[in-house]
Amino acid sequence: MINLFSDTQTLATEEMLEAMVRAEVGDDVAGNDPTVNRLQDLAAAKVGQEAALFVPSGTMGNLVALMAVGGHGNEILLHEESHVYYYEGGALCSIAGFTPRLVAAPRGLLTPEILETYLRPANVHHPRTTVLELENTHNRGGGSVTPPDLHRRLVAWAHAHGLHVHLDGARIFNAAVASGVDVRVFTENVDSVQFCLSKGLSAPVGSIVAGRKEFIDRARQARKRIGGAMRQAGHLAAAGIVALEKMVDRLAEDHARAKRLAELVAKIPGLKVDLSSVETNMVYVDFAPLGVACDTFVDRLAAKGLKVSLIPPTRFRMVTHRHISDADVVSAARILGEAARAGQ
Ligand SMILES: Cc1ncc(COP(=O)(O)O)c(C=O)c1O
Repeated sequence: MINLFSDTQTLATEEMLEAMVRAEVGDDVAGNDPTVNRLQDLAAAKVGQEAALFVPSGTMGNLVALMAVGGHGNEILLHEESHVYYYEGGALCSIAGFTPRLVAAPRGLLTPEILETYLRPANVHHPRTTVLELENTHNRGGGSVTPPDLHRRLVAWAHAHGLHVHLDGARIFNAAVASGVDVRVFTENVDSVQFCLSKGLSAPVGSIVAGRKEFIDRARQARKRIGGAMRQAGHLAAAGIVALEKMVDRLAEDHARAKRLAELVAKIPGLKVDLSSVETNMVYVDFAPLGVACDTFVDRLAAKGLKVSLIPPTRFRMVTHRHISDADVVSAARILGEAARAGQ
């Protein structure tokens, strides 16, 4: 099976598994697991923030950051298809207490000009707007990159309005590699950032939240409240250290393969792909012209040995990652061509 379902399908490297077995551990709830502490220090330094916190998932990372800001009675500005709104079970409202104000923007790319039209003056009738949430790369935006200049303008705009900027940087290293910049360009000027050690970086578990020390202390307490504090977590953190030290630069290979895959798919009649939108490791394909029911098409691909993720009603997504080779890209395109030619 060629598994292009997601970069979440990556397995730990040999080096990670060895590091996990050998890790020196303690009790991280008490703050004395040396490997977790080493990962947190390394992560904070990498993203140019004062402190960092290891959490089990990206979803929890976003949630504890929002809980640390405090949402009850307040409004958060975020893209209408942001992961935090779309895929995290409504926790931003039901747990963190925010009222979401959903912003429409093509490919997930917010701009100060768009946001300006959503910002309301302080008034007793409105919840107070306190947070701007950014997502880079943007998942439902097709893996789009908010470029460094736009990112700087967004943060400056938010700060000028007194907003906390939280960056969902689940794939922020993809954004940095694709832009050819150090990741700190995207992370050191925000108030909090979450990024994943799993996904393209291949660790089996875990994300990082980073920010100012006092903010991370509050996030740590939020993590405890929702049951995310772990004991001998150093075994997991050890894989995260390898992810950060060894797995970032190779993301460029995933990006090149996604581009190649998109070029091959663009030649298949009945499949539509916008080549200019393929900036990182994701390829979104629209198969509406085929007129095939969406489940049927994806099942047909699976029967031929290609796993993709369905984006109803007429799109699917493919994500390249460490286990996808050049040969897999060619085979995937061949399977897609056969499935498209099979008609309705
Ligand atoms: C943009 C974005 N944010 C957050 C997450 C959540 O990460 P996790 O699956 O580790 O909870 C994901 C997962 O795919 C994501 O794509």
